[in-house]
Amino acid sequence: MPISFFVDPLRESRPRDAARGDRWIDRWLAACADLAELKRSNPMTDAVIDAIDGRMIRIGDKWLADFASCNYLGFDLDSEIIEAIPEYLRRWGTHPSWSRLLGSPVLYEQIEDRLTELLGCEDSLILPTITHIHMSVIPVLAAGGTIFLDSRAHKTIYDGCQLARARGATVKRFAFEDPDDLDRQLRDDRAHTRIVCMDGVNSITGNAPDLAAFARVTRRHGALLYVDDAHGFGVIGERSPDELSPYGCRGSSIVRHLDETYEGIVLVGGFSKAYSSLAAFIACPTPLKELLKTAAPPYLYSGPPPVASLATTLAGFDVNDRRGDALRQTLYRRTIRVLDTLHRLGVRTLNHSGFPIIEVPLSDHHDIGAVGRFLFEHGIYVTLAAYPLVPKDEVGFRIQVTAANGDDEIEQLCDVLGLLSQRFALQREDDLREAA
Ligand SMILES: Cc1ncc(COP(=O)(O)O)c(C=O)c1O
Repeated sequence: MPISFFVDPLRESRPRDAARGDRWIDRWLAACADLAELKRSNPMTDAVIDAIDGRMIRIGDKWLADFASCNYLGFDLDSEIIEAIPEYLRRWGTHPSWSRLLGSPVLYEQIEDRLTELLGCEDSLILPTITHIHMSVIPVLAAGGTIFLDSRAHKTIYDGCQLARARGATVKRFAFEDPDDLDRQLRDDRAHTRIVCMDGVNSITGNAPDLAAFARVTRRHGALLYVDDAHGFGVIGERSPDELSPYGCRGSSIVRHLDETYEGIVLVGGFSKAYSSLAAFIACPTPLKELLKTAAPPYLYSGPPPVASLATTLAGFDVNDRRGDALRQTLYRRTIRVLDTLHRLGVRTLNHSGFPIIEVPLSDHHDIGAVGRFLFEHGIYVTLAAYPLVPKDEVGFRIQVTAANGDDEIEQLCDVLGLLSQRFALQREDDLREAA
């Protein structure tokens, strides 16, 4: 599931656990109990999708509007991209089953060249998934020094940091969205190597961090800033007076969107969301790319993405060049329609960016199962954000809008949100104002 895992049961073990003879597996099971119950009892988790028709999905005999996929630009359904695949398969077969160090079809170079140009970075390296990158690159970059980890970082970043810790690095957490806390911690740390790991567009809140502030702090302390913009790449990009929407142009990701430079920043992102393809990248200086070719295990040992994914990535660049900004304009318009509906209902969402990830927290986290069933019965498919994927006061559901959701599906969603807000206690915008 593409969202954070909030607690670490292994870290949370207390002395009394050991005294009682608790096993680590029991602590894992206890930590995941809410989620496991949801998986068992709710049609909205672990579902088998029997068919799709555009952005409608069929589960058994029930058709639902899908607001749970990350195919933000609708490239998974784009006929121009789909039709590009057979020619690549004819030329390259289904799968280049060499590890990349053994040999890479020239398609990789073509992707890296186009990506480097799009991002405006020095160089880039393609590996199969972001998870592979975090698990292999973070330990290399940490080099036994200190990692400063955003306390709300995505689970896959967290896991990469745990592996680095096993290789001798120290992991310290800094408060979410708090560059001042990071500044204090960096000031007090004297490690030879310091790296700061965090998300770009956050997969739960849908908001971007204040990258300029974090970059200022990390540069001032001579640390490296490592940013995972899985959800921003393809959606947000460089600003321009001619832009069709506030998402900016070209989907060139968070560094360009916020008009930052790549000095002291390593950007990671993937094609498996906005580009609907299995591949991921690290944007970095050329010497680091060359180092990673021998130091990052997936380049040496892992199977590569299938040719169809390399094909859809390349065809995706073409479509992005020609129609991407228009698709992002549609995506923005549909997202704003949903956000306006929530606002009109007085319902709180964590999203204040207008980006297409809209988390709606419940007043009572115990309602999650019933809310999931209600949405399912009313034909709406979303991601349920249960504890421990999110903290208890943020348990709720996450709507992801894509350019391929029709206006009729958006209207259906808005109607159902109205019914839901009458039936269940959702957190209110007013509560937030009173608390402030
Ligand atoms: C922020 C973030 N990073 C990483 C990942 C994992 O990406 P991949 O599937 O390429 O490993 C996800 C997936 O949902 C994500 O949301």
